[in-house]
Amino acid sequence: MSSMATLLITLGLLASFLDTTESQIGVSYGMFGNNLPSETDAISLYNSNDIRMMRLYFPNQAALQALRGSNIEVMVGVQNSELSYVAASRNNSFDWVWRNIVTYSDVKFRYISVGNEVNPSDGTLAPLVYIALTNIREAVVFYGLGNQIKVSTAIDTTLIGANYPPSQGAFKAEVRAYIDPIIAFLVANNAPLLVNVFPYFSYVDNPVDISLAYATFTSPSIVVQDGAHGYQNLFDAIVDVVYSALEKAGGPWVEIVVSETGWPSAGASAATFNNARTYLRNMVAHARWGTPKRPGRAIQTYLFSMFDENNKEPQIEKNFGLFYPNQTTKYNLCFN
Ligand SMILES: *[C@@H]1O[C@H](CO)[C@@H](O)[C@H](O)[C@H]1NC(C)=O
Ligand SMILES: *[C@@H]1O[C@H](CO)[C@@H](O)[C@H](O)[C@H]1NC(C)=O
Repeated sequence: MSSMATLLITLGLLASFLDTTESQIGVSYGMFGNNLPSETDAISLYNSNDIRMMRLYFPNQAALQALRGSNIEVMVGVQNSELSYVAASRNNSFDWVWRNIVTYSDVKFRYISVGNEVNPSDGTLAPLVYIALTNIREAVVFYGLGNQIKVSTAIDTTLIGANYPPSQGAFKAEVRAYIDPIIAFLVANNAPLLVNVFPYFSYVDNPVDISLAYATFTSPSIVVQDGAHGYQNLFDAIVDVVYSALEKAGGPWVEIVVSETGWPSAGASAATFNNARTYLRNMVAHARWGTPKRPGRAIQTYLFSMFDENNKEPQIEKNFGLFYPNQTTKYNLCFN
């Protein structure tokens, strides 16, 4: 082998190594506030802070206009209130994809999240999710975007039953009829499961068994030893619980994208500026390293949320912003 070939191979390996550990941090752009900057200003703020991924909860047309030609990768949602429309017919789902995706050919769409935190026992919404997923996917493929845009849904961790230690993670028996077909859909289409992960709520629900240090990535040593895997932070433990649950429900290779995570700075117990800053700074630094079950592979993670949203309820939901409505940074995070 020539030394040139060796060099090229070495560079190739190095590049792929760097690739896997490059951070993949996005920020969700919630709009439940009456004092928020314009969509154009918000997107400028993403750009000036080098935030390269955005989650939009619905196809806000002004935001999509402002995203035209930018390099920001977008996860856009079919809202729960639109599930009945896109599930009702292929025509409707083609219409949704045409109006919100195809007409914005210069926006870098990466995911469509069909439904957010739909409760499997919600007799109205839950039966719509699988149909909406397949309808939207069909439209995406029809318009030639099947390789570019992955179609999935965002769950919360109330679908999990057993959760300790992480290798024992499993979906609740009563949600299997809901989640199993969705997992089969993700497997068939090589799409990730979107999971909203909040160590904050686990901690405030159970501060006796969970330490603040474990919840905020500051534990000096391993807290949970689970076979070969040692857990030093709760975020990894939660993500790996869901990986274990996926393994037991026919999706051992389905990847997880963390579609929300965050910590509030005020409004409730443990919601302090310092705790929030500690959690978020450590989260950003940590995401590139993966979890014990998926080491060395960056966890794509969307921080929740861009701004404090004063119209959210209850009180605790108002203070998850990374920026104040006047666009001043709260924590001075470095996103890459
Ligand atoms: C299909 O959708 C288009 C656009 O919304 C509408 O104009 C048309 O009437 C629909 N066709 C059927 C058969 O529902
Ligand atoms: C922005 O808002 C925050 C919170 O209300 C405040 O502390 C800060 O001084 C404001 N910054 C500017 C430049 O107005």
